[in-house]
Amino acid sequence: MKFKALLAATVVSTLASTLGAQAADLTIGFSQIGSESGWRAAETSVSKAEAKKRDITFKIADAQQKQENQIKAIRSFIAQGVDAIFLAPVVATGWDQVLKEAKESKIPVVLLDRDIDASGKDLYLTAVTSDSVHEGAVAGEWLAKTVGDKPCAVVELQGTVGASVATNRKKGFDTAIASHSNIKLVRSQTGDFTRAKGKEVMESFIKAEGGGKNICAVYAHNDDMMVGAIQAMKEAGLKPGTDVLTVSIDAVPDIFKAIAAGEANATVELTPNMAGPAFDAVVAYKDKGTVPPKWIQTESKLYTSADDPQKIYESKKGLGY
Ligand code: AHR
Repeated sequence: MKFKALLAATVVSTLASTLGAQAADLTIGFSQIGSESGWRAAETSVSKAEAKKRDITFKIADAQQKQENQIKAIRSFIAQGVDAIFLAPVVATGWDQVLKEAKESKIPVVLLDRDIDASGKDLYLTAVTSDSVHEGAVAGEWLAKTVGDKPCAVVELQGTVGASVATNRKKGFDTAIASHSNIKLVRSQTGDFTRAKGKEVMESFIKAEGGGKNICAVYAHNDDMMVGAIQAMKEAGLKPGTDVLTVSIDAVPDIFKAIAAGEANATVELTPNMAGPAFDAVVAYKDKGTVPPKWIQTESKLYTSADDPQKIYESKKGLGY
């Protein structure tokens, strides 16, 4: 009896330590873009929390928006012999060489929240991203439905030039409004995903469009640029959310605050938890050799004033945004 109990305890503890050790023994490096937006800050803090939950040693390198810093960080992670590398690629091109180096060192790479060019497809294990063309389409369809047949001049604040999400969000939006001849994109410029640049570019749009009287809607590739644009509109005496419709992407707390105040209209959610599914994919790959699907897609849900924005703001504001 004593022996049986001991045997059972040993099996349980061996199993537990084997399973525990597999996640706990992992060291994963993350080449993060920087902290250009509230969403990005949330992704960083959620990633740390997800690593902690799994007892994974997690090293984050902040690239300060520069691809060269990301390449250096990846090389440093390779030299340290990490078990896997997460990469949020600032732009879509220029990764093949460094990803080949990771592959040669047998270190799996997982892309987080942005994609890279097709030439790099064989060089990473999986990508945890939303469908960013779809996000743009959701924004465009919301606008088309909201304006109906009325003529509508739209200005667009694009994300970082060369980032997959900027290219795709533009493409999705353009396609969605293409069949609505009353909706015209009159100005489009990058605001680099930042609040300050969003404000600055919006000020120039307002100036160029007769003080903003001709602008019917603003489409921004992220909420931070929209928050900056809202400020610019208010300072110019316009009423965002009423005179000028707004639609953007991310669903950060501040945009819900603006929607609740009637100063913004719609946002498409991008979850900041890209790392959770990525950790699970790496653990399963390392433990059992399970090859994940090439794309782990996250949801893109539309939120408007009909969704109790104040309540959502309250529930999100402590989450690291
Ligand atoms: O790649 C995701 C995008 O990058 C987010 O929408 C934006 O806020 C961020 O900076």
